[in-house]
Amino acid sequence: MKAEGKAEVPVSTTESTYKAVIGEQILADALSDFNDGRSWDKLFLIIDENVEKLHGDHVYSVLASHASEIHTQIIPAGEASKSTDLWKQCLDVLLENGARRNIPVVVVGGGVTGDLGGFVAATALRGMPLIHVPTTLLAMVDSSIGGKTGINHSAGKNLIGAFYQPGLVVADISFLETLPENEWINGLSEILKYAAIRDDSIFDDCSIFLEDEMKNADPEKLILLIRKCISIKADVVKQDEYESGLRAILNFGHTFAHALETECGYSRISHGQAVFLGMLAACKLSSLTGSDLKDQKLDPFRSLYTYAVDRNELAIKKLNRHMMADKKRTGPAIRFVLLESWQHPVLKEVEDEDLIREAWQVAFDEL
Ligand SMILES: NC(=O)c1ccc[n+]([C@@H]2O[C@H](COP(=O)([O-])OP(=O)(O)OC[C@H]3O[C@@H](n4cnc5c(N)ncnc54)[C@H](O)[C@@H]3O)[C@@H](O)[C@H]2O)c1
Repeated sequence: MKAEGKAEVPVSTTESTYKAVIGEQILADALSDFNDGRSWDKLFLIIDENVEKLHGDHVYSVLASHASEIHTQIIPAGEASKSTDLWKQCLDVLLENGARRNIPVVVVGGGVTGDLGGFVAATALRGMPLIHVPTTLLAMVDSSIGGKTGINHSAGKNLIGAFYQPGLVVADISFLETLPENEWINGLSEILKYAAIRDDSIFDDCSIFLEDEMKNADPEKLILLIRKCISIKADVVKQDEYESGLRAILNFGHTFAHALETECGYSRISHGQAVFLGMLAACKLSSLTGSDLKDQKLDPFRSLYTYAVDRNELAIKKLNRHMMADKKRTGPAIRFVLLESWQHPVLKEVEDEDLIREAWQVAFDEL
């Protein structure tokens, strides 16, 4: 049965305030509201390949009722699509089919398609209206909110990009029915991150994922949970739109995680698995550096995570070397987002290798 509940979160930035709407089967209504019931003469659609296969009929039929012409670019699944080649292919579709500054680019997919499509909208004609339709849990709670768009370069991830805010975000949970379990895990880790840095009640809310397979989570409760997460991200972005300070707290667990992902190769450990291990390590390091984290709030979720990497394959020295490669580092210490207490994140520089080693052990114990 379709969830009746629907939620909206205003996201305020220096340029504008836009809405993130969350609900089930809400795409058509959200587009109508956005354009005051009128239609566009054309729309550009940038859509993830798997989403197109699984939900293309629905998406095309909704868009067809909002525009007489639709020009589509399908994006192959996977991080490799955040490339200059795909960016150019998308621009070709827009510019060869009469793109104008008032024609929206509708981007339907996970964070990969969202980051790429957002950057296309940011750069075509110096900015076309952007509508994000995130279809992964991670994209709903994280990447579609806040205006970071971009693609990768051979020198590193996300090195080409722009801050560019969408005009609307539609988080329609009906897309999640087809989301593979490992992608649910990627989203869960970011949700638990919000719980750790900002809102303790999210830990309780996440019990919906422990009762059954994650994809069977109660839709009404899921909508409220996504709303809470989007509100936190929106609040952080409002205070630090261009990532000059506070926004760093969203990297809780991520310093350890990036080192793991680099060391294991991105295919052997998923981002979500790495972030969960990273948060366990960051909690330990917080305690070792004087914080008082009494409860093991992440513990109930450990059973949801399984790993293909073995602890014997990992060397702490190498992992630390990856963390030392952080471009923002100014001295011998490594910068971490730690917790002073639950929901009180702080940036700390830690130099003592023994402490960092002890923190890694907690992550290794999971493997
Ligand atoms: N812009 C930001 O602020 C921000 C924040 C976090 C992450 N990111 C970026 O997000 C990307 C990761 O995003 P992601 O985790 O959504 O991964 P993704 O976009 O690669 O999607 C994951 C997989 O799920 C598939 N998929 C998507 N929706 C589906 C659905 N409804 N049903 C079935 N399959 C579906 C995709 O085809 C893909 O295979 C990374 O590139 C990361 O850098 C950006």
